[in-house]
This record gives sequence, structure tokens and C-alpha cells, in this order.
Amino acid sequence: MPSIIKFDNILADITYLKELASTYQLDFASLPQQRQLYTEQTRQRVGQYALISDEGGVGLVDISDPKLLPLRVDFAADALIYRKDKGGGKNEAIAKAIGIKKNAQLNVIDATAGLGTDSFIMASVGANVTMMERTAIVSALLHDGLIRGGKEPNCAEIVARMRLASGDAREQLQQRVAEQDTNVDIVYLDPMFPHKKKSAAVKKPMKMFQTLIGSDLDADDLLTPALSLAQQRVVVKRPNYAPFLQDHTPTMQIKGKKHRFDVYLTHHSLRTGHTKSADETQTPD
Ligand SMILES: C[S@@+](CC[C@H](N)C(=O)[O-])C[C@H]1O[C@@H](n2cnc3c(N)ncnc32)[C@H](O)[C@@H]1O
Repeated sequence: MPSIIKFDNILADITYLKELASTYQLDFASLPQQRQLYTEQTRQRVGQYALISDEGGVGLVDISDPKLLPLRVDFAADALIYRKDKGGGKNEAIAKAIGIKKNAQLNVIDATAGLGTDSFIMASVGANVTMMERTAIVSALLHDGLIRGGKEPNCAEIVARMRLASGDAREQLQQRVAEQDTNVDIVYLDPMFPHKKKSAAVKKPMKMFQTLIGSDLDADDLLTPALSLAQQRVVVKRPNYAPFLQDHTPTMQIKGKKHRFDVYLTHHSLRTGHTKSADETQTPD
């Protein structure tokens, strides 16, 4: 079982950490000091990957690689970079892919939430986002990121539109279909796809994440319940070289340099006349 580790020499909210551990079925461990973390003894005790709690919040570490900084969900940092680089997200390809419209509050399920970056961008353009994530250690990172982000003035308003529904999305989507839930406008999917060997450009902490998660080889199973549930569209983010999910040709595509968004307008939207607008077929970046 993966662990969450606290250090005796760093002040921590033990009640919170124990709750986090019990919610996501993680072991709770403590070490006297940080320098005991990257040792063979600790690796034997907790395994290669673990969560630590330090001054920066909860972070994912690779016990065998002390050079890697802990990987955290930091919506405040994202918000700053995002604002600095883009000056607002409505022109983001993802905003176009989900069909963001002025004054329309979309309810989005991000069924493969990962580190929540795409969820955050969708929430930053006004969507209410439910994040589903099945890997316990990643859910705990998201949980902690939401709590810290909710206290940061530069992103608290955006984080307030995000909620975590930990667990396998295939079951959760099917459950909502069975309950005839009509409140979900968009289902967004970004499953992990096997990376080309040459893709050295992936930053090291992200490599740690990719190694931890592996490839989501069952991703095809998400498309059918997603199409049944989404009232407007299903959006699938794929590397440009990846095939369509279930070999199912999308209604339209939005292509970027490395990724594309496959957009499936659902039968609900076709029935109610919610169809694509002209600018959604263009090719950004
Ligand atoms: C490529 S990452 C998503 C990255 C994310 N879009 C972001 O911006 O950070 C894919 C994530 O989906 C999760 N995942 C894959 N299949 C899932 C499923 N059936 N249910 C819930 N989570 C799933 C994986 O555990 C992984 O964390």
C-alpha cells in the first residue's frame, strides 16, 4: 500500500494527514528528518513512490531519485503562469473544444483528472468541474491541492468550481447513466497514452507521474458511457499520433502541435439542436 510520510522535524497537521491517508487508503508513516527519505531502508519500507508532507504541502516523490522535486498539485502556481502566458483562457484550445460560451455555466466531468491542470483551465473559463481519478495517490494529491488552492486569493474562486470524485470513472459514469442524470453537459477524457520512446521533452517530474500511472490501456471503455451521459459533447485529448478511442471518428477535431481534441457531439445535443459553431473547427496553435 502506498504511504504518506510526515517528518518529525516539520510541523504538520497530523489529524488532517491521517484523514487523508484513511480516505485514500494510504499507509501513514513518519521519519525523523527529510534526509532519511531517499534511503534504501525507506524504499524497502514504503516502496518506490510515496507522498510526503512538508512546508509546500503534500507531494509525490520517487524515493530512488533525490534530485527530483516533489510533484504537487499547485493551482496557485498554475493560475499565475496561466494568466501571465495567456491573459485569460477563452482562446485556449480546450475552452473551444468544450464549447465554452458567454454566460453559459457548463457542468463538466473530467473523467481522467490526473493532476487537475485541464480541470483547472476549464474551471477558469467558468465551467463547474467534477474530477474523477482512480489512482489513490493521485486523488490524495488533488485533494490536498484543492484545499491549499481554496485558500489562495489568486485561484480560490476558480477552485470553488472544482470538486473531486475519487474512484474509477467507468463505474461512476455508468452509475450516472443508470440514474438518468441529465446534468452533465460535457465529459472530458485525457487518458494516459503510451509515449513514443523518443519523447525526451517530457519534464522529469511528469515522467515520474507517467511511470507511476503507466498507460491507461482500458481507455476505450470510457467512451460509451461518456457518450450516453454527456448532454452536449464528449471531448477526448489525444497525442496527434494516437488513434481515436474505440476507432470512433469524432464529429470534429481541434488540432495543436502535439495534441488534438477529438470532439463528439452527442445525440442529446443533436436532438436539441446544440451543434458546432464555425470557429470550433479551426486549428489553433
Ligand atoms: C494523462 S493523465 C490526465 C492529466 C490531466 N488531464 C491533467 O491535466 O493533469 C490521466 C489520468 O487519468 C486517470 N484515469 C485513467 N483512467 C481512469 C478511469 N477509468 N477512472 C478514473 N481515472 C482514470 C489516470 O490515473 C491518470 O491520473
